[in-house]
Amino acid sequence: KLTVLTGITTSGTPHLGNYVGAIRPAIEASRDENVNSYYFLADFHSLIKCHDPARIHQSRLEVAATWLALGLDTDKSTFYCQSDITEIPELTWILTCMTAKGLMNRAHAYKAAVQDNEEGGSPDPDKGITMGLYSYPILMAADILMFNANIVPVGKDQTQHLEMTRDIAQRFNHHFGEHFVLPEARVDESTAVLTGLDGRKMSKSYNNYIPLFAPEKDLRKLIMKITTNSQAPEEPKETEGCALFEMFRAFATKDQVAEMRAKFAAGIGWGYVKQDLFEVVNAQLAEPREKYAELMQNPAYIEKVLKEGAEKARAYSRPFLNRIRESVGIKTLT
Ligand code: TYM
Repeated sequence: KLTVLTGITTSGTPHLGNYVGAIRPAIEASRDENVNSYYFLADFHSLIKCHDPARIHQSRLEVAATWLALGLDTDKSTFYCQSDITEIPELTWILTCMTAKGLMNRAHAYKAAVQDNEEGGSPDPDKGITMGLYSYPILMAADILMFNANIVPVGKDQTQHLEMTRDIAQRFNHHFGEHFVLPEARVDESTAVLTGLDGRKMSKSYNNYIPLFAPEKDLRKLIMKITTNSQAPEEPKETEGCALFEMFRAFATKDQVAEMRAKFAAGIGWGYVKQDLFEVVNAQLAEPREKYAELMQNPAYIEKVLKEGAEKARAYSRPFLNRIRESVGIKTLT
């Protein structure tokens, strides 16, 4: 069986990008009989960007309810919260000691933070950068290697982290024996980067996102706000690189996409494209949106699901981590 694993950071409300880039392909994969799936809430990762305890707690419920509302079958999948698996921070430390600092210097998120400081004229390039941000990819590697995942469905922004995970695993295996599987990112090219309201990548950090379960009225309003160019309605339009078209393609059927392509070629006003886009997005989300609202009324149920998931996950991670400890020469008390 193949192991598929992915995580969502609990620092905010899940958005359309998280859904098409990771959650939807992950739930699809979990329905395959030949797949073992591990999906989790990355709450340790959320501490890197968010120091608001109430926000983090709320986001844990929101992200969990999202997966459940979208139909994740927790009997088939192992669904848990990262911080409940105490083996993960332990593995993180072991991997930290085996990972070259130079590898972390190349991480995009860290480099972007340094660049921001330099462009902002700060004399200290590391200003405001925590060790958490710096070694973020190692925690992510531990998430993945802990369960020996073969495939990790993610958006394009995470592919460098997967390469680093492979580097880290290879280095460990080379010194201590073949313990870790080398994972691969699975990036669906058509939904790899969903664009946000302002033309940049849809992201919690840019605050340009459309919440996955925004009420219907807000969803329509937000879609109407997506930035477009000033081409006149009758002008033929390019589908390639057009954010509206790409978002439409992420939600529509093949036939609907072909129809939209023809409309673009013939010339169509942006307002009409947005109306059609709203309809396909809403059609896919209306039912889970209701389920989500129900689940959010029942946090005790969500906590119960997460507890059972953590127990299932730890049945694997505990003995596996003991073998890793032993391989580096650290005894486990019995
Ligand atoms: P996070 O929480 O930022 O995003 C969760 C997933 O959503 C994808 N995504 C997008 N996909 C398409 N278009 C977008 N605009 C878009 N924005 C986000 C992300 O690529 C990601 O797949 N570090 C990870 C969480 C994580 C993880 C892991 C993932 C922690 N450990 C282990 C996989 C395996 C993150 O911050 O994702």
